[in-house]
Amino acid sequence: MERLDKLYIGTNTKMYKTIKDTEEFVSKLYELTADINREEMELFVIPSFTTLNNARKTVSKEQLMLGAQNMCWEEQGQYTGEISPIMLQEIGIDLVMIGHSERRHIFCERDLEENKKVISAIEHGFTALLCVGETEEQKENGISDEILRVQLKCGLKNVTKAMAEKLWIAYEPVWAIGVNGKPASAEYANEKQAVIKRCLMELFGEESGSEIPVLYGGSVNNQNAPELIEKENIDGLFIGRSAWNAENFSNIIHMVMPLFKERKIKYK
Ligand code: 13P
Repeated sequence: MERLDKLYIGTNTKMYKTIKDTEEFVSKLYELTADINREEMELFVIPSFTTLNNARKTVSKEQLMLGAQNMCWEEQGQYTGEISPIMLQEIGIDLVMIGHSERRHIFCERDLEENKKVISAIEHGFTALLCVGETEEQKENGISDEILRVQLKCGLKNVTKAMAEKLWIAYEPVWAIGVNGKPASAEYANEKQAVIKRCLMELFGEESGSEIPVLYGGSVNNQNAPELIEKENIDGLFIGRSAWNAENFSNIIHMVMPLFKERKIKYK
């Protein structure tokens, strides 16, 4: 099966769920989606660090991919407050999210750090999920494409073609994320995802670049999920608020899965 034949869908629970909440959430989510063949879907949950160990004991890798919300690029050292790749390997997680908009804008992370994290995550056997996106001001100044290309070219510096097999990208426009965000239209998201895909092809060649999954995130909900997934360049959905209730998340998954399959046939 080709990489992009499956639907990529997951949630970042940000700083919301406790250990108990997360255990309940992942086991419920697995039960509610057990009817969907995992060959056809990469389902992932990215909860807080403190919940990962218990979450991993609750669901296996085959049932649900688990990711960390951040990671230090070094294995150990004088990095107070950081979590190393070795520590995450010990728990047995699958994925590391890098450069989420809240990390970039609240905690002042730069492309330089994101790049070190992407390389370290892949070298330690994780899938790296690099998040990119423009701010409202950058969009208004007409430089969204340039910003996306800078974030990709700097964030993916020295990432090889072979390493790109363990890379996913999430397009999350900063103005579309969270309680004050307004969702991007499906047309706008599709257009920017095409910009991202073209840049990935420049970096990794036509074949390898076009196989990297590019997900859309930012106020995805039950209303806009269907039109987003019908767009050619949207390989999956990365959801916050609307996915934090397992029943609702499962409803979204069951709603978009058949649409995704139809779309795949249409654009084959
Ligand atoms: P919302 O879906 O709540 O806007 O959050 C998206 C997000 O930040 C996923 O990482």
